[in-house]
Amino acid sequence: MKFFLIGAACLIVTISGVLYIKMRPLEFERNYLSSQIEPEKILIREKSDEIGFFFGASAGEPTHVDNNLYAKVFNSTTPTNALKLGSVIQDLNTMTYDFSESDAYVDIAREAGLRVRGHALVWGKLSDQYKSPDLQVWLDSLPKDANRSERLSNLVSSHIKIMLDRYRGKISQWDVINEPLALFGDGELEENVFLRHLGESYISNAFALAHELDPSLRLFINEQLNNYTGDRAQAFYALVEKLVSEGVPIHGVGLQHHMLFFVESPEATQKYMQKFSKLGLQVEITELDARLRLFKDAGDPYIAQGQYYRDIVDACLKVSACTGVTLWGYNDEDVWHKDMAWLFPEPNEPYLFDEQNRAKPGLSLINARLKL
Ligand code: G3I
Repeated sequence: MKFFLIGAACLIVTISGVLYIKMRPLEFERNYLSSQIEPEKILIREKSDEIGFFFGASAGEPTHVDNNLYAKVFNSTTPTNALKLGSVIQDLNTMTYDFSESDAYVDIAREAGLRVRGHALVWGKLSDQYKSPDLQVWLDSLPKDANRSERLSNLVSSHIKIMLDRYRGKISQWDVINEPLALFGDGELEENVFLRHLGESYISNAFALAHELDPSLRLFINEQLNNYTGDRAQAFYALVEKLVSEGVPIHGVGLQHHMLFFVESPEATQKYMQKFSKLGLQVEITELDARLRLFKDAGDPYIAQGQYYRDIVDACLKVSACTGVTLWGYNDEDVWHKDMAWLFPEPNEPYLFDEQNRAKPGLSLINARLKL
């Protein structure tokens, strides 16, 4: 018994030690503070406009996009949450909407001359994981004799129509289907509320309806892949290839590119993007962020992170079908990883500007790349 207790104690100490090493917050020297780029030397927006490239950042609040610095760097923006179902719909039964936040975001962005990416029309996790809204609870609340599949199908169709009508001529590119794959596994479709009640055709039906409602739109399927050589990446490519071969009106693929636990190489990224361009599709990096902690072994992690972002922009510029790179945030004040701090120990600090809006090395490095 004594040996068992000693063994258990040793195991607990060992596990605690490993967790401490893996999870303890780290801090790096902010050498970039002594080498801030002069605003007048920032030409990213100007150069991006010149070559028809979209460089963007998502923002939580419309006011984030309404400032001189944002306007010198970005020519595109994605509302982080404002266009999502849970942010606009007030009542699922009466289909009552409140567009005050989404309209403000779109109007302010367009007044600043920014392209607005529409994100996202149909996303299973928004209901199943974020409960925003919980569509399964809504379905369960319907009268016993209600046809749940029909009600959900009608909700999805009505929502797509309402959003496309509302932002017709203002948003030209939509993430129609977001994250169709299960987060884990080898690339199976996620058993989300839409798959459960509507079957696989929820994907093609959404694209077909959106295209019928507005043939001028660029319709994207958007997915988070941790790497571009594994089974999930191959499965995602196979899904898109199948949909395209069936004549589903998909025009573009969004690779979110959240680098969470390791950093996928720019070379593998470029190669994967080229696969989609061979299908005749547009490609965009739609939600770029790479946690600073992933660069902890570099001489200067901030510079290494900035070089990585420059190399991802470079990879996109080398693929003619890649039309844009969007970071999933503007500055480190608003970082989604903090909502899952247990999974993403500090430092995350993933964006081009720090929490005090000071430029990090990536800005100068991307600026230099675009001036070539
Ligand atoms: O604004 C409310 C606030 O009033 C309230 O007090 C608080 C607590 O309930 O919630 C706040 O809303 C939260 C919102 O973020 C703004 O912080 C929502 O609950 C929360 O669900 C929402 O999370 C967003 C998440 O998508 C779900 O929509 C994250 O900000 C956003 O970064 C994240 O973005 C996703 C992409 O859409 C798809 N790809 C993955 C990416 C990261 O998860």
